[in-house]
Amino acid sequence: MSNRFIAQAASGLARLKPYTPGKPLSELERELGIKNSIKLASNENPLGPSPRVVAAISASLQELTRYPDGGAYALRSALAARHGVSAAGITVGNGSNDVLDMIARVFLWQGRESLFSEFAFAVYPLSSMAVGATLQVAPARHYGHDLEAMRAMLTPQTGVVWVANPNNPTGTRLPHDELRAFVEAVPESVIVVIDEAYFEYVGHDDHPDASQWLADFPNLIVTRTFSKAYGLAALRVGYSISHPDIADLLNRVRQPFNVDSLAQVGALAALEDQAYLDEAVALNDAGLRQLRDGLDRLGVAYIPSAGNFLTIDLQRDAAAVDQALLRLGVVTRPIANYGLPNHLRVSVGLASENARFLDALEEVL
Ligand SMILES: Cc1ncc(COP(=O)(O)O)c(C=O)c1O
Repeated sequence: MSNRFIAQAASGLARLKPYTPGKPLSELERELGIKNSIKLASNENPLGPSPRVVAAISASLQELTRYPDGGAYALRSALAARHGVSAAGITVGNGSNDVLDMIARVFLWQGRESLFSEFAFAVYPLSSMAVGATLQVAPARHYGHDLEAMRAMLTPQTGVVWVANPNNPTGTRLPHDELRAFVEAVPESVIVVIDEAYFEYVGHDDHPDASQWLADFPNLIVTRTFSKAYGLAALRVGYSISHPDIADLLNRVRQPFNVDSLAQVGALAALEDQAYLDEAVALNDAGLRQLRDGLDRLGVAYIPSAGNFLTIDLQRDAAAVDQALLRLGVVTRPIANYGLPNHLRVSVGLASENARFLDALEEVL
């Protein structure tokens, strides 16, 4: 689509296609003339928010006339204690996307290279393009990160290398030793981002918590979010854990009040509600099992997932299947934009929602 102002815009914007979020259910239902649809399209937590979060937010509503604490003091202190780091190394974001974007603005510019894997999370190229950086896309291996290939693509121009663990939209993950060896091999002049948006869902003993490696790697940034297992996607709270000097640079581009008061209060309450987190993770485990069993029964292939979603391989154009599922009121996510036109990503829902998805898929196929 042509744009009459493109020549006046920052150079990276010419090839940038904005992120397309899933439509709200209400709009979709109006468009398709359907009712009682279910949304398994945005890797959201199906449990509903923690009652402790709702209570904390309700109690702080009278503060709406005040600006939020721009330094997010209480939240950053709690996060620092959680990760065993200094609060000076915690940078909060309006969702972790905001922090990813700050990283690109600080460490990438025209002439610098941004390195990530094929099928990696869409925000890495978007934020990199916005600042005019050159994209370096390493080929994937079995839908996941090929760290050897990524290592071979590091150049003196590489500014940032991004690794999602687990990755969205494929659900693949990297075990401790493999990822640690990669981080060790990256020169300190390159920023390594390990995006742990789905960390809480991974139950494997060999899965790394990269926030524990910061003392060894000053060039490492680990990002986390409250949008997934903590169930607060609407509030928009994420953060990074890094060397304080990196946090200092991120804070130079951070908008002063990027995390609002309700989000700060809600995230703090969520952090204290371990029972909710345990329930969310158990629900996800059971849901993943239910989806895998159902797909096995239908003979539909999928990529093993460590996240709160499963990406299925329809071995034919997924767009048509997606449309047919929509007409049955089941919203999933086609991922042709990731270069996977035969795959459909389905987020884990409640047991009844997973069952409805499986029934609808059987009907469509
Ligand atoms: C890998 C990955 N990183 C980061 C995010 C950003 O999430 P948020 O901005 O809600 O924290 C997502 C969201 O889907 C994701 O899949």
